Amino acid sequence: MAGKIPQEFIDELLQRVDIVDVIDHRVPLRKAGKDYQARCPFHDEKTPSFTVSQVKQFYHCFGCGANGNVISFLMEYDHMEFPEAVEELAARAGMKMPEKTASAAAAGKRSDDLLPLLERASRYFQSQLRQHADAARAVEYLKRRGVSGEVARRFELGFAPDAWNGLIGGFRAGPTELPTLERAGLVIRGERGSYYDRFRGRVIFPIRDHRGRTVGFGGRVLGDGEPKYLNSPETPVFHKGSELYNLFGGRGAIRDADLAIVVEGYMDVVALAQHGIDNVVATLGTATTPQHLHRLFRLAAHVVFCFDGDRAGLDAARKAMETVLSEMHGGRQVSFLFLPEGLDPDDFVRRHGPDAFRDAVGAAKPLDAFLFEHLRQQTDLSRPDGRARLAELARPLLATIPPGPYKEILTRRLGEITGLDDQRYLAGFVSGTRTEPANTEKRRPRPDRPTPLSSFAHLLSLLLQHPESARRLPEIEGLDEHPAPAARVLAEVIAILREDQPPSTAALVERFRGTPHHGRLEKLAAWNHPIGDESLEETLLQTADTVRRTVVDDAIDKLLEKSGHQPLSEDEKSDLNRFMHLKQTLRMDAESPARSG
Ligand code: UTP
Ligand code: MN
Repeated sequence: MAGKIPQEFIDELLQRVDIVDVIDHRVPLRKAGKDYQARCPFHDEKTPSFTVSQVKQFYHCFGCGANGNVISFLMEYDHMEFPEAVEELAARAGMKMPEKTASAAAAGKRSDDLLPLLERASRYFQSQLRQHADAARAVEYLKRRGVSGEVARRFELGFAPDAWNGLIGGFRAGPTELPTLERAGLVIRGERGSYYDRFRGRVIFPIRDHRGRTVGFGGRVLGDGEPKYLNSPETPVFHKGSELYNLFGGRGAIRDADLAIVVEGYMDVVALAQHGIDNVVATLGTATTPQHLHRLFRLAAHVVFCFDGDRAGLDAARKAMETVLSEMHGGRQVSFLFLPEGLDPDDFVRRHGPDAFRDAVGAAKPLDAFLFEHLRQQTDLSRPDGRARLAELARPLLATIPPGPYKEILTRRLGEITGLDDQRYLAGFVSGTRTEPANTEKRRPRPDRPTPLSSFAHLLSLLLQHPESARRLPEIEGLDEHPAPAARVLAEVIAILREDQPPSTAALVERFRGTPHHGRLEKLAAWNHPIGDESLEETLLQTADTVRRTVVDDAIDKLLEKSGHQPLSEDEKSDLNRFMHLKQTLRMDAESPARSG
């Protein structure tokens, strides 16, 4: 994908867009010296360690290690794919996507025109609830379910009349609009090529994304009928795996309570709101995904999953438990609530009231209790082989928990239950007698102490952060022949910087997206140097010197080593001569008193 959009386009894009603007729009930034700061949107924290540099066009979090340029930010924060992020930024900068990527551009444009349409559809459904001749049935239905006019308005509930062309007629949609309505998931194209309304004779629940844009709908039949709920299909703007019902409307309450309650149904959300409980979201008939969790943990440190007390609810809870384990860091807390008597939250709050529901949420089962209970049920702890089985079942689960206090506590508990005391084994680090990590899942780097950088990495980091300084860089002979991967990347970076117009830090790192070096370069671009700006040039020259020496010494060592067991070729001999000579020059340079930064 990345290769399809020309490099020059991305370079120019990164030059035109300001990362501070883009991030500030989503995460309000505060000026702090040369940089901007905020509480990190990628992990929970009380004091801001998320820093955005306008000069470098780069962000970096000292807490969790998240970093990147504006494209990376959109990919992480808005869960966009690369082309989508580029398109969003291009639109912002008023740049036309290049012809070659017309299809991608069209897709971007295509999702653009869906949003106003979906907004219009939502207003249409709402107006039908107020004025359609058959709306009384829907109003009656909502009343019977205890939904007040005020709450119906707040959730923008609507009504889809029981007609094949209600919305089509209401929109006066002609042949050009119909395919767009189809892409929005609002109409269906029949076998004979004619279009008809997807939602018919239903109460409509508009679904907003995390930015408040209407992206899809759920529709419930009035009374009995199949299917009970009909949802928008996946469209360019609607993805059930990342959207949650009421995430936008409930975000203030979730933040205030520092708690998100996750339920299964639209009506559960609405009924709880009717009883004054607003920090509630619903999954859209799908399992809980990591994206769901990221969105929730961005707002609150506590999540309570509330599932129906039946078999299906229990299965859904287990799936959610497995998904949530890898998100357990930074002081997060997760609990599971199973309501009694087969009630769902809607039934429960209507029968027992909001205080009883709040009490139940407060008493929900902590993740660890649920986890071990689930494991115990599958094993017989009175027998050694039963305890061993429990350890075997638990290890892959514990292995997905990020390193930290929570992992340690659960590991210790597993030790107590099973009578085993090999912590590393229990935590899933060691599999059987082999010693490789069982969990090779890619994980965000932990907040780490500065580790010493190799001279290659150090120079790379200086050049990435101060691309303009490359002009002062001396030639480093033999660099591209050095076997260290960092040396080759360094050679590549230097070659790019020698272009007529050296790119910015952000654009430079961008060139490596999709290569194995991208992540490393992102980190190096954000590396904090213990130097002031005055001494930059000196540091650069010294580091370049060290690199030159390393390259020369390594080349000489390699050739001498080889000559120890086989005769050198003519080329190799001349290389050896060349490097010996270079070494001599470097030594003379270093001893020369004339050389001062
Ligand atoms: P439930 O059947 O538990 O919903 O399905 P509910 O909210 O309790 O329904 P009523 O209105 O009170 O009878 C939970 C969720 O599963 C999805 C919907 O998202 C629903 O809110 N679902 C359910 C569907 O998508 N289709 C269906 O046919 C049923
Ligand atoms: Mn229900």
